[in-house]
Amino acid sequence: MNSKENFALTENYVAPTYKRFPVALVRGEGVKVWDAEGNEYLDCLAGIAVCNLGHCHPRVGAAIVEQATRLMHVSNLYHIEPQARLAELLCELSFAEKVFFCNSGAEANEAAIKLARRYGHEVFGEGVKRIITMHRSFHGRTMATITATGQKKVQTGYQPLLDGFDYVPFNDVEAVAAAITEKTCAVLVEPVQGEGGVILPAPDYLARLRALCDERGILLILDEVQTGIGRTGAFFAYQHSNVVPDILTAAKALGNGFPVGAMLAIDRVMRYFGPGTHGSTFGGNPLASVAALATIETVRDDKIVEKTVKNGAFLLAGLMQLKQKFPEIIGEIRGVGLMVGIDLKVPVGEVVSACLEQHLLVGSAGDNTLRLTPPLIIEEAEIETLLRILTEVFRVY
Ligand SMILES: Cc1ncc(COP(=O)(O)O)c(C=O)c1O
Repeated sequence: MNSKENFALTENYVAPTYKRFPVALVRGEGVKVWDAEGNEYLDCLAGIAVCNLGHCHPRVGAAIVEQATRLMHVSNLYHIEPQARLAELLCELSFAEKVFFCNSGAEANEAAIKLARRYGHEVFGEGVKRIITMHRSFHGRTMATITATGQKKVQTGYQPLLDGFDYVPFNDVEAVAAAITEKTCAVLVEPVQGEGGVILPAPDYLARLRALCDERGILLILDEVQTGIGRTGAFFAYQHSNVVPDILTAAKALGNGFPVGAMLAIDRVMRYFGPGTHGSTFGGNPLASVAALATIETVRDDKIVEKTVKNGAFLLAGLMQLKQKFPEIIGEIRGVGLMVGIDLKVPVGEVVSACLEQHLLVGSAGDNTLRLTPPLIIEEAEIETLLRILTEVFRVY
């Protein structure tokens, strides 16, 4: 099927929830993807921070193929060895002591919200269920997670929303302190706001939030769906500081493209998720678990986090030079590891389309921010290509 036929088929049969670019991608390898006509693109979006090891990583692919011919799925009514090994590895690499598996970021956050409510109910009593979240946050598209999301545009038309959420500005600990009541059970926050425009936390923000949560006896939940699995130059972003959450959610890059979500927690909290309290048919099934295991083992064995720090610094340095060249186009540049946002003074949509014409895939976030989340295996030469294309695109203005 050629690209035009694919566009028509999508238009005719697929729900119109996405505004799609006129490209049909059919193959990927590393940082490159190809369309149906064989045109090559440099993918600096990586499925929005999903394919951290690049497209079709051989170790992940081999693990999936092998498992797919042995045992794809069994119910969580039985023990699943790769799931247990994956949970063990996630705990070894983080603060966590137990893991609940699901299929997406929204589901991981649903699980976190439900666990926090159960914890509040069991530990402090009925009605202790309110959760504080941040303006400009993004936590997913289910009813609970659009309610948690501090952006009106994802909530429009879906009222009534869930009861029990209070919103405060990001990076404002005093506002969180003022919003906590005797009904509050948790604070939910992204360590770096992704969809909100790659907004970095103030250096002491998470530590002060942690101290506040401890003082008031409430849970700190970190949404690391986008920041997790090496993206920011630490396996989880919280590891840049000494701040340890009570609950953490992960998905996106966890399976390097295979859908897997996870909610990690300390025992003292996870014990309130007893038998029958929550579940997922597919969560942590053998196929998903081997994909995630192979992904995380590769991140560990290939020292991907260290490479991300190095390549992230190289990219940021190149972008700063670009900003000097184009001060009338580029505003603030924010980045940590290979999670980068570039505020633009020209419409970001135009720039993303112009990049696409030059066979470069990039994204947008926030109000007018260009977003770069390339695979973490990107090489310096590919970063140079990215910078060269951005230069050509900006030169036209
Ligand atoms: C921080 C954060 N949380 C949650 C989600 C939702 O994840 P999913 O689309 O897998 O449900 C996203 C997706 O962009 C995200 O960036």
